[in-house]
Amino acid sequence: MTYYKRHVFFCCNQRDPPEACCNNHGSADMQAYAKQRIKALHLDGKGKVRINKAGCLDRCTEGPVVVVYPDAVWYTYVDRHDIDEIIESHLIHGHIVERLKI
Ligand code: FES
Repeated sequence: MTYYKRHVFFCCNQRDPPEACCNNHGSADMQAYAKQRIKALHLDGKGKVRINKAGCLDRCTEGPVVVVYPDAVWYTYVDRHDIDEIIESHLIHGHIVERLKI
């Protein structure tokens, strides 16, 4: 049994342009948004969902990237709509969002 049902890592790494990095796509803001939504939905805590910041996950050119464990599913995203879909579909109902998968 895992401590969290789903543990989500947003790469929030920042590099100077022109090097690729997830925070050039606003990943830190999206991580904060996801964390706030999970809390508002009372999905945070032991046995539920944890949203964490991560350093570089080494998929920089595919970014911004987020990975959901224990499923080991990687996503990219553009905006809050995409984050909402990952939360609703994957984190709540366990259905992978194929269109955002990398
Ligand atoms: S900067 Fe995000 S994966 Fe490397």
